[in-house]
Amino acid sequence: MAEVVGYPFNQIPTEGFSAFKSGVHGWGSICGALVPAIYAINVVAEGDDQVKMINELMAWYKDTPFPIYQPKGMNLPTTVADSSLCHVSVTKFMQAMNIPRDAPERKERCGGLTADVAKFTVAMLNDFADKKLATGVFKPSAVVGECMACHSKLEWAHGKETCTSCHGDPHK
Ligand code: HEC
Ligand code: HEC
Repeated sequence: MAEVVGYPFNQIPTEGFSAFKSGVHGWGSICGALVPAIYAINVVAEGDDQVKMINELMAWYKDTPFPIYQPKGMNLPTTVADSSLCHVSVTKFMQAMNIPRDAPERKERCGGLTADVAKFTVAMLNDFADKKLATGVFKPSAVVGECMACHSKLEWAHGKETCTSCHGDPHK
């Protein structure tokens, strides 16, 4: 976009996003591939459109078997995170492959996933620009609605991540 359109896309210092790698420099917080994608949506769309596209991206991420793009033809196994957290996403993959953190497959998998997130976001923004955006295809897990039916009225619970992935079902 910086090359083709110029302003304002040539004003974004993309180096600023590198600190989000590994879920913010190894903290395993939000997956670092999502942050620049969210930013891109944020600068292109406003209001409801922005929220709808970000919801779509986050929900698609948690449901998608990554990596779709296989760097270096590695034929890596795919895993579904059911979370937007780097920690959950990458750990499920390492578990499936039975590899340590410094294995080259881990880096390639996260690289492939980053390509997947970029591709999905660009396709979504193109649909938005062409006024044929379909949102609500991907949604928070059904359990969020079930838990939040009570917990949105009670204190302390906030969010759309899959509740049971951390809490199990504390009421059973
Ligand atoms: C029918 C209403 C209801 C539903 C549905 C519900 N909760 Fe609760 N939950 C409560 C109430 C009432 C409490 C106790 C008061 C409080 O802690 O706010 C509680 C407490 C909790 C606590 C703190 C207590 C503990 O055991 O540590 C957690 C965590 C929790 N709920 C998670 C969940 C999750 C996750 C779901 C969905 C799988 C869920 N709840 C569904 C009503 C509900
Ligand atoms: C990424 C992990 C994670 C996810 C996903 C998550 N929680 Fe939590 N939740 C925690 C942690 C950690 C705490 C604070 C420690 C604790 O009390 O268990 C907490 C606290 C809570 C509490 C207060 C517990 C208490 O003891 O009073 C409730 C209620 C709760 N969460 C409900 C939910 C609901 C509902 C969802 C889904 C919308 C959800 N959580 C999703 C990790 C998570």
